[in-house]
Amino acid sequence: MADSITWTLVCVDCASTFPGDELRYRCACGGTLDVVQSVSPGIERETVDERLRSRHPHDRSGVWRFRELILPGADDAIVTRGEGRTGLHPSKALAAWVGLESIVLKHEGENPTGSFKDRGMTVGVTQAMRLGKRRVACASTGNTSASMAAYAAIAGLEAYVFVPAGKVAFGKLAQALAYGARTLEIEGDFDDAMTLVQELCAVEDVYLLNSINPFRVEGQKAIGFELLQDLEWEVPDWIVLPGGNLGNVTALTKGLGELHALGWIDRLPRVAVIQAAGANPFYTAWTNGAELVPVRAETLATAIRIGAPVSWRKALRGLHATNGVVTQVDDAAIVEAKARVDAAGIGAEPASCATVAGIRRLVAEGVIAKDARVAGILTGHVLKDPGLVVDYHKGELAGIESTLANAPQRVAADLDSLRRAISG
Ligand code: F0G
Repeated sequence: MADSITWTLVCVDCASTFPGDELRYRCACGGTLDVVQSVSPGIERETVDERLRSRHPHDRSGVWRFRELILPGADDAIVTRGEGRTGLHPSKALAAWVGLESIVLKHEGENPTGSFKDRGMTVGVTQAMRLGKRRVACASTGNTSASMAAYAAIAGLEAYVFVPAGKVAFGKLAQALAYGARTLEIEGDFDDAMTLVQELCAVEDVYLLNSINPFRVEGQKAIGFELLQDLEWEVPDWIVLPGGNLGNVTALTKGLGELHALGWIDRLPRVAVIQAAGANPFYTAWTNGAELVPVRAETLATAIRIGAPVSWRKALRGLHATNGVVTQVDDAAIVEAKARVDAAGIGAEPASCATVAGIRRLVAEGVIAKDARVAGILTGHVLKDPGLVVDYHKGELAGIESTLANAPQRVAADLDSLRRAISG
């Protein structure tokens, strides 16, 4: 470990505090933990802007560029693959479709393993190295496992991933296998896998790398940091993202609050979380102003097929702090939004496109004004779930009407047939 620990772990529920280097994921009361830095980071906004011109790998990472706000003093322990640096894409076609004058989409699918998870994972695996851990594990709907498998391989750590059998998109399962993680297909859903991995890490010397690990959350804050930097620190009216286990919205809102406290931004954007209607316990809790009640989740957006989100209390706090909202969209709306995002030349996996479907809904309801400045977060790459894409375009997705189908066409191997096909 570094000589001076500059952070504390603070319980979100009862405010108990623990030393920052203590190996723990929950408070004694069962609450989740925040990393709270005890000193001001001592850098200015200009410094992170200057780092955009640097060639140092830590400056070139869209996470470690902000290292003083994320994990100070990690230095030589840093395990990076140049995560972040993702594009912020405008789209006239998508703005028109959702009913806005303009829109920008931060494409986190452009991370090294194709999802936003790399931002948290670079920090989680770095912390594993600092703690001298040799084995790491996570439960996952697919992207966390792909990311952890890659970073563990870089660091030379042994990786165990627990995924719901038969419910992980092909691209993600392929990545976990390819990067060499021991991949355990649990005969249950993500929520079962999440419970099991916590039990395992309590009895074995295995470091837990789900977003219940507060250091993962620290890394994921960099989505907001980089988005604001992309916007030259001009705060948008809204930032919109999908919600599953709710680590990402926790991280985003925590990071935004810190930027505001530092005076790097002059106000907070509003944050909107979009859930799949078949996996909507947070939406229900939000709407009823009640405790979260777990559900059996079912949605085509398998990344967010989660019925008992671990970070819901932190997410709630973040939404209250940003005057946020939560809404839900059904699978038909998610898949249609995905077809639009893909056809706009941007492309993203289904769960990511809940963002765009949700923006469309919130604009139609008048919650987001038509002239609002809106930044949507696309969380994963279009190639993560090729099965759903092909099924959709062939009109073979059960229960879904493929209104924008672009089916492949068989053609005989001669020029006449080809010419007839393209003029048809
Ligand atoms: N979008 C994608 C593509 C995801 O993979 C996830 C979560 C989310 C959105 C939701 O983010 O959980 O922080 O609210 N995927 C996790 C996984 C659960 O295992 O890859 P969240």
